[in-house]
Amino acid sequence: MNSNQIRKKYLDFMKQKGHAVIPSASLIPENDPTTLFTGSGMQPMVPYLLGQKHPLGTRIADSQKSFRTVELDEDTVGDNRHTTFFEMLGNWSLGDYFKKEQISWMFEFLTQILKLDPKRIFVTVYRGNKEIGIPKDKESVRYWQEEFEKVAIKAKDVDMAEEKGMRGGRIFYYNEQENWWSRAGIPQNMPIGEPGGPDSEMFWDFGEDLKIHENSIYKDQPCHPACSCGRFLEIGNNVFMQYKKTKKGFEELPQKNIDFGGGLERMAAAKLDNPDIFLTDLFDLQREVLEKMTQKQYGKDFEETKNFRIIMDHLRAAVFLISDGALPSNKDQGYFTRRLIRRSVRYANKINLKQEFTKELGRAVIKTYKNHYKDLEKNKKKILKELIKEEKKFRKTLEKGLKKFNKIVRKEQIDNSKINGKVAFDLYQTYGFPIEMTVEMARENDMDVDMEGFKKEQKKHQELSRQGAQKKFKGGLADAKEKTVKLHTAAHLVLAALREILEKGQQVYQKGSNITADRLRFDFSFDRKLTEQEVEKVEAFVNQAIKEGIEVKMKEMSLQKAKEIGAQGVFDSKYGEKVKVYTIKGYSQEICGGPHVKNTSELGKFKIIKQESVGSGIRRIKAVLE
Ligand code: ALA
Repeated sequence: MNSNQIRKKYLDFMKQKGHAVIPSASLIPENDPTTLFTGSGMQPMVPYLLGQKHPLGTRIADSQKSFRTVELDEDTVGDNRHTTFFEMLGNWSLGDYFKKEQISWMFEFLTQILKLDPKRIFVTVYRGNKEIGIPKDKESVRYWQEEFEKVAIKAKDVDMAEEKGMRGGRIFYYNEQENWWSRAGIPQNMPIGEPGGPDSEMFWDFGEDLKIHENSIYKDQPCHPACSCGRFLEIGNNVFMQYKKTKKGFEELPQKNIDFGGGLERMAAAKLDNPDIFLTDLFDLQREVLEKMTQKQYGKDFEETKNFRIIMDHLRAAVFLISDGALPSNKDQGYFTRRLIRRSVRYANKINLKQEFTKELGRAVIKTYKNHYKDLEKNKKKILKELIKEEKKFRKTLEKGLKKFNKIVRKEQIDNSKINGKVAFDLYQTYGFPIEMTVEMARENDMDVDMEGFKKEQKKHQELSRQGAQKKFKGGLADAKEKTVKLHTAAHLVLAALREILEKGQQVYQKGSNITADRLRFDFSFDRKLTEQEVEKVEAFVNQAIKEGIEVKMKEMSLQKAKEIGAQGVFDSKYGEKVKVYTIKGYSQEICGGPHVKNTSELGKFKIIKQESVGSGIRRIKAVLE
């Protein structure tokens, strides 16, 4: 069973259990300024977990592209299980079914659909914590026991395995470090308003005879499912999303939700019964290309294998990021794409891969995924062009930069000091070394980087270039920005218009927007093409608001207040209490970070130029201001 089949089987299974299967959201969250990337399947679902009605009902499932920067920042990629990009299989109950169904379905899926041996499956539950008033999750234990009983396994529940070992257990209690989930992590770290809850994780046991534990740094501790020695692999997490953090502590949400997330790659590894996810079919083509180009064999040499993994992970992520619009650059999401590609080039250099390779690997990634992620094929040209451009650019300076770096290391090591901030900035500015790369290389030489000095240099440089840019703006750049702002205000009017004109027993929500100086792209939940008349009505509605010349007012208020006055927006993800609400009186009220025009009269004439479907239940319109 390959990964494409596992993905399909999961989605089919969930469909059969009454779920609406939706397409993956973009890796770049829209309407959510608090986070750079979609890092889990639940992120786009937050408004619905908090109670907003989902247009497709109370049971939703998907396979969500996810990207976690922490894996890059903490340098975890290179072992057999961590990746920056991964696919999360997800299903949600929005106040519908709860623990019993979820646990029973998961057991059915793993053991009957994937046909994993139940003897090799171990699960964990929340130990409870009096301090935050959340009880031990005996209920889940009972449901798991019922499931295991069906296959004649007596599932013993065991506590304190992290100190006392497994003792024949099958169900294990852990604290909130292991068995609590929210976007912010443990309960103590959750901001007010954030949803979260205890969870129950499922592990695959690769077997005691793997002898991983004996060789690991954990060898003096007892082995247990959440131990990091490598014997067990977490393949999925059932989150019982039933609480919201408030000033007073945890409050039950008005609806009890399920948020399930399962790692596709990890399920495939369990199915193969091999703990190295880089040996699953999802990496076959990339591995083959790399082996051919380097004349080296994956898995033969420890260091080389690690380098292979880093390259494969980083380029896979870069392909998906570019496809979703994060082109390599010096800021925001694009900076991560740049770091991924440049780092992969440095690692390629380490295994003596000196010819251009990113394009070939990019092709391999696209080929692997194109049947499920149709955008990849559509964006193929752009993706390959960006990869090769970035690789070429970096290769031009890499060798020289490395020489310079090595010279400095030799010199500085004698003085036993840090790499000076000015030097780090020069490596960044002249040789294109992302600062994280310099830090990593310094670490490889047991050295630090003077980060303060680096930041000081960077600031100095930014101030200088800002002075230069101000002069340049007169030549048109400023104008482009103005156009974007106008279209942004128009987007608010579009949402108001759609809700006014289409909302006849239907729920219309914004599902995303993308604005350039030339046009506005707007996605919303609706299940059919707009009639010509409706298009005209939407245009007329927006143009009326423009004609009336209404002031666009901004007010800061608490999230609670914004909800009370009925402002539109993504309610979830605003960390911190205050939000900005933009009001176009009589037409629109939205939570938004801005910026907007001062008065609607600045907008000109609004026109819809195109409409199309982008997956089940989601429509897209493109519009311009003339
Ligand atoms: N949202 C949960 C996770 O990411 C399922 O693990």
